[in-house]
Amino acid sequence: NEGSLWGGRFAAGPADVMAALSKSTHFDWKLARYDIAGSKAHARVLHRAQLLSDDELARMLSALNRLEDDVVSGRFTPAASDEDVHGALERGLLERAGEELGGKLRAGRSRNDQIATMVRMYLRDASRDIAAGVLDVVDALVAQAQKHPNAPMPGRTHLQHAQPVLLAHHLLAHAWPLLRDVQRLRDLDARLAYSPYGSGALAGSSLGLDPSHVAQELGFTAPVENSIDGTASRDLVAEFSWVTAMIGIDLSRISEEVIIWATKEFAFVTLDDAYSTGSSIMPQKKNPDIAELARGKSGRLIGDLTGLLATLKALPLAYNRDLQEDKEPAFDAVDTLEMLLPAVSGMIATLTFHPERMAELAPQGFSLATDVAEWLVRQGVAFRVAHEVAGECVRACEQHSPAKELHELTDQELADIHPALTPNVREVLTVQGSLASRDGLGGTAPVRVAEQGASAQERAAEF
Ligand code: ARG
Repeated sequence: NEGSLWGGRFAAGPADVMAALSKSTHFDWKLARYDIAGSKAHARVLHRAQLLSDDELARMLSALNRLEDDVVSGRFTPAASDEDVHGALERGLLERAGEELGGKLRAGRSRNDQIATMVRMYLRDASRDIAAGVLDVVDALVAQAQKHPNAPMPGRTHLQHAQPVLLAHHLLAHAWPLLRDVQRLRDLDARLAYSPYGSGALAGSSLGLDPSHVAQELGFTAPVENSIDGTASRDLVAEFSWVTAMIGIDLSRISEEVIIWATKEFAFVTLDDAYSTGSSIMPQKKNPDIAELARGKSGRLIGDLTGLLATLKALPLAYNRDLQEDKEPAFDAVDTLEMLLPAVSGMIATLTFHPERMAELAPQGFSLATDVAEWLVRQGVAFRVAHEVAGECVRACEQHSPAKELHELTDQELADIHPALTPNVREVLTVQGSLASRDGLGGTAPVRVAEQGASAQERAAEF
């Protein structure tokens, strides 16, 4: 089994189908640079343990540097005979350092602790890139909110008109979960910051190697405290996948609204030409494909997570080859978000809102009925009664054909419903009055929403 990492005890090489199934270079080559960084740190640790002389260390590092250059430039790539990134890189090292010296590097490490370390390094970098992309979406939402500081829209529950809210309030409601997603990636990084290097296959090393040095050199806080945990756990990959799925879901919720808002019936937004698509048959079409792809790809991200969870379920300790199945879904989640996030932030940043349309609809559907009830409470009426009375106002409106709006009830009609309903109630029967009155912390009053936008912006800048 020429050139393989494990030929000695085998009389014959692997069957073609075995080799094909086992091969992972087509995806784990992505980790080559992390593996070389690990190899350099490992060489130094071997040197500290007096397993490499000064001269050997120097030649080893020089060979690894040359290998790294060749990997980066594409001069060195995996061969058909390489099983995985580790085997390919060892071949590259032997070619550059010679078999004698190159063959010393593998002492005290295993592909099991290597791959677990590489994946953590990859996830830490990917988390930072994804967080930046998520923050761009937050920026786009905050910018749109600040562009429309006083524009009302119909606030909905159950997709039915509920109470008027500010468009800015609604947009910022999409920003907060995304800020929490960034926070989640930060929190996760603190857990990803422990290095499995030195765990060996599962039991650690007998060679007197100090895993702290590798950990430090690779930017980790410390080595893991248990070598079995270090090589066999993938909960952190699953946690990462959960966060990426959640980001996908958060984007899908914004997207679904954009899709609805762009319909003829809603007409709340117009999509920018650069962020929408046409139809091959219907010349008039302008479709919200980015939003639909975001919605669709959230399903894919959920699949990446659930596939990994299914792989991990009931897997005995320590390392099992099943664990190799952690990488493709995690890489897919990263690639998917790196494609999706800039498209979504661009789509949001370039949306044209139609505030007059939203303002026209905001008071419809009796969305000020709660304001009538709360006004009555301020006049000393118990809320239980006030709720009934406001409900009767709605019923009175609906008895007209076509139905009246609340502010169209006459003074007499109001007084007939309840004596406390004086014409003064009209002060809350406007959208502006309703919005301004909801001025508690977190409410939709323009003053609160302006503060909220500034606060979201500040939070985003902290990351
Ligand atoms: N490619 C493997 C993985 O991704 C690491 C190699 C471990 N192989 C082995 N036979 N123990 O998990």
